[in-house]
Amino acid sequence: MKIGILKEIEKSEKRVSISPRIAKQLIEKGFQILVENGAGDSSKFKNSYYEKVGATIEKRGAVYKNSDVLVKINPFDEDGLKLIEKHHILICQLFHKSHPEIVKQIAEKAATIFSMDALPRISRAQDMDVLSSQSNLAGYKAVIKGAYEMTKIFPLMMTAAGTITPSRVLIYGVGVAGLQAIATAKRLGAIVEATDIRMETKEQAESLGARFISVENEDEESEGGYAKAASAEYARKQKEAVNNSLFKADLVITTAMVPGRKSPILITEDQVEHMKNGAVIIDLAAAQGGNCEISKMNKTVVKNGIKIIGTTIAPESVSTNASDLYAKNMFNFIMYLTENNEFKWDLEDKITDETLIVKDGIIRKT
Ligand code: NAI
Repeated sequence: MKIGILKEIEKSEKRVSISPRIAKQLIEKGFQILVENGAGDSSKFKNSYYEKVGATIEKRGAVYKNSDVLVKINPFDEDGLKLIEKHHILICQLFHKSHPEIVKQIAEKAATIFSMDALPRISRAQDMDVLSSQSNLAGYKAVIKGAYEMTKIFPLMMTAAGTITPSRVLIYGVGVAGLQAIATAKRLGAIVEATDIRMETKEQAESLGARFISVENEDEESEGGYAKAASAEYARKQKEAVNNSLFKADLVITTAMVPGRKSPILITEDQVEHMKNGAVIIDLAAAQGGNCEISKMNKTVVKNGIKIIGTTIAPESVSTNASDLYAKNMFNFIMYLTENNEFKWDLEDKITDETLIVKDGIIRKT
């Protein structure tokens, strides 16, 4: 079976779906690998690295024409959709609920598509979970970005010139990104506090050395590992419980998201006005509207001496690692779905069922 690795066309996208290391592993498993010319350039994987492990470099059209399976990170674009044929099996992060038009076009071609973002959050799917592997890096990078923007250092430092007290970091949302942000800020010596609507995260946050800020929570249950939208009453209690820490924080990282919805506003403009001069907020939920009322995607807003940086959870800035982890998820996914290089099509299986959005032109998930 031939797997084609396509180049991502979005300017901001620096990742590639399969790295040379994983291409090698797929070749060892008996797959043939075709790589679109320059697909790995932005992740610092040259064509020659792929060739060295036994992959073939081709032009875009030839990759489409000669591959059975086509892999990508982002959804297929207009030009790519034109090149899709009936026999193609596509794998990418489709976010099918947000892209019904693309789903329709793939169905019209009678092709098949799996979506990596639709993986169920169950233990046996953990090593294929691209949302986790990418969010983990985003959590790390958020702390590094914060450190760069702050006018203070993280650790306690005792010097002949006096003692520097440690910075205080507050994390909203203890999911995958939040946990990595806690671990990274702790390693750098900060005092870390965290809060989450899902009470099961308390123990996880504490095990990494953060103080967990509990908010009285009666019926805000989680669903499939994800949070549900919080009630106005919860939001009020959360402000009460967290404000003290927020107003003392030097760096705030917000990661709170609710699948399929706008991200909840956890920090209002009024709260920002009470924060410490020089504090920094890194809002990782900005692409979904942001956790801070005044954050703007890809912008730094300065309010009253507070810097609010609206950014995304996609870790393009560490594209070499991000690509390699995405590729390993992809490898595990392909291995899971195939036997002797053929797809098993076990539609009773939860992982297959939930990720298979279109099969041979039939739309299975909307
Ligand atoms: P996410 O990106 O959807 O949200 C980030 C965090 O924000 C979550 O912990 C959520 O509870 C929190 N949040 C949402 N609304 C909030 C509010 N109003 N106030 C405070 N916090 C709020 O979540 P992510 O990172 O994708 O992970 C969610 C969970 O899914 C993980 O902690 C884990 O339990 C589970 N998971 C399971 C996997 C598996 O078993 N295969 C793989 C990855 C995650």
